[in-house]
Amino acid sequence: MQALILVGGEATRLRPLTCNTPKSMVTVLNTPFLEHVIRYLSGHNIKNIVLAQGHLSKPMEDYFGDGSRFGIKLTYVLESQPMGTAGAVKNAEQYLEPTFMVLNGDIFTDLDLTAMLDFHKARQAQSTIALAPVEDPTAYGLIETSSGGRITRFLEKPSWNQVTTNMINAGTYILSKDILKRVPAGTPFSFERQLFPQLLEAGEPLYAFPSNSYWIDIGTPEKYLKLHRDMMRGEVKGYQVVQGKVVKIGQSCNINPETQIVGPVVIGNNCVINRGVKLFGPLVLGNGTVLGEDSVVDSSIIWANTQLGMKVTLNECLIANDCLLENNTTAEKTVIGDHVTISRNSKLGPGSRIWPPTLTPAAPGKR
Ligand code: GTP
Repeated sequence: MQALILVGGEATRLRPLTCNTPKSMVTVLNTPFLEHVIRYLSGHNIKNIVLAQGHLSKPMEDYFGDGSRFGIKLTYVLESQPMGTAGAVKNAEQYLEPTFMVLNGDIFTDLDLTAMLDFHKARQAQSTIALAPVEDPTAYGLIETSSGGRITRFLEKPSWNQVTTNMINAGTYILSKDILKRVPAGTPFSFERQLFPQLLEAGEPLYAFPSNSYWIDIGTPEKYLKLHRDMMRGEVKGYQVVQGKVVKIGQSCNINPETQIVGPVVIGNNCVINRGVKLFGPLVLGNGTVLGEDSVVDSSIIWANTQLGMKVTLNECLIANDCLLENNTTAEKTVIGDHVTISRNSKLGPGSRIWPPTLTPAAPGKR
């Protein structure tokens, strides 16, 4: 079986983390998100993978190459302009097998793809759409079905009074290549808003595969952080860890033995943790993180090569690569892009977004 992963979106909601890094390459537990997805696909014996790329394609190619390091075959297809979800698949048509899967590249799930394929074959479906339950369906596409699983209605981003089910389009499809005949070439086109409703209207065999699987899209800072929390608390299959324990410490770290650590915490390679530091999980420190004396880091994700000065306090922050947060900085619910310097004594309140490259003016006080 072959899978096409949509990885060409601009990821505006996850900025400034995604100013230089495509959404599929943001790290999750210090590993690019797409690597987690590729390992999941490989686990279902899906090893022929097409990446439909647009915005920021090079970091993926540099990391994955032809895929052989991961035991898969990778084909890259680049769009000259954003083609939308169905348009991106049409653009890759020449590389696709008669039946293939499509996955949104920002979704993490443990959906049973093997069972979904069996379901698709048993019904001789032309298209099968995976469904996942969510608490608040109003931000997603709702799908109503008959008792046999045939799709009867699509409802994009319904208001609460239109909500009839909590099962949403999970962004995972099994498709017959024939349906691409209905997608115009060279123009943006959407599965959710155009192709699927048109297929339904035409009476084509369109099925929905319900599941109770874990499902999250990492499209916003809150949900990116939530995926980490869920994984580190053992709520995601394959990522079982014990609450309260340090999960993992990388190689060549220099950690002061008196550091107070309340897990789960993941620490990358070559990290330096100085005297008096307190760490409260769920927390991830990327490779080469340096924490100055008496810093306190709580429930945050820090990517590679970021340095905190003395007495820096972080709570629920996301910090990209190569940043410097000088002494006495405090930040809460803040997202910081690459190569940012935050001057001493800064106070960053909830919702702050600091774009790269930013050098904040020095605040008064001692360094
Ligand atoms: P936002 O700007 O934050 O909405 O993010 P996004 O651009 O990623 O859009 P969205 O979350 O709706 O995209 C869902 C998935 O489809 C992501 O994996 C995107 O990378 C992918 N995607 C969205 N639009 C395109 C497109 O035009 N081309 C390709 N190849 N992929 C796309």
